[in-house]
Amino acid sequence: MIEIFEAIKESAKRIKTIIEMGDSSKSDSSNSTGDTQLKLDIASDLVIEEIFGKIPSVKQIVSEEKDEIFTINPDGKYLIAYDPLDGSSLVDVNLSVGTIYGIYENDFTGSNLKASAYIVYGPNVDLVFCDGKVSKLYRLRNNHFVFLKDIKLNPSGKFVATGSTQQCWYPHHKKMVDDMFESGYKLRYSGGMVPDLHQILVKGGGLFSYPGASDKPKGKLRQLFEVFPFALIFECAGGGAIDGQNRVLEAKTLHIHDTSPCFFGSVSELVYVTSAYNG
Ligand code: F6P
Ligand code: MN
Repeated sequence: MIEIFEAIKESAKRIKTIIEMGDSSKSDSSNSTGDTQLKLDIASDLVIEEIFGKIPSVKQIVSEEKDEIFTINPDGKYLIAYDPLDGSSLVDVNLSVGTIYGIYENDFTGSNLKASAYIVYGPNVDLVFCDGKVSKLYRLRNNHFVFLKDIKLNPSGKFVATGSTQQCWYPHHKKMVDDMFESGYKLRYSGGMVPDLHQILVKGGGLFSYPGASDKPKGKLRQLFEVFPFALIFECAGGGAIDGQNRVLEAKTLHIHDTSPCFFGSVSELVYVTSAYNG
């Protein structure tokens, strides 16, 4: 696992450089979900493929930008799912973006997720690594990641970040969000899941949701690359991650690009969700 952590750190430094080079133009291709790929998405994907392709303990890798799983070393132990540059369209407007990793064993399912990590590229480059027990925050200083703290959520927070098109929200979701605002929660939503979730984690609590809605009943965020990795980080920080009723890490995955409605938060915010979504 140490060599995987080192590979994550190396890829973060190289992707930071790619972003700083400033080419946020579109490529001629789109990914399997139909999103137009930026040159940045493709370059970040290649960096991770190159770095992880050399690690003996890695059995397979799969990218959010690709349709297939690649076998690196048939005798390897770990399966890596990654989103090379989540929220890449925000680079143009100079908002933060991120990279997400899920480290699985045996197969790509939530119950086999052993560790996860994400990087936020903003005014600072922050890295959160979770070994399945503790979620640890590091910050890039003089080209080295320095440990800052263990992330621990308070029993409740102040922020609500909720995605999708409001017009398509189900009435019980709208009511839940309205109730939370009436109870004093504040809206925080940049449109990049990595910085939006990072804010909730570092500031000690709140709720991030990407619900199922009438246009996308299973939500938008991908289980393997986005939902499961953050679910482990929230659980290990003393919060939780549910699909409305159940732990998202228990959700079934039939296809690598499956999505799931998701709600990440501290304990009090998840009570709002389970009561709104009850039945
Ligand atoms: O990868 C999907 C993503 O860009 C996430 O980073 C973000 O949370 C979400 O889409 C935003 O989607 P929407 O604009 O529908 O709320
Ligand atoms: Mn993404």
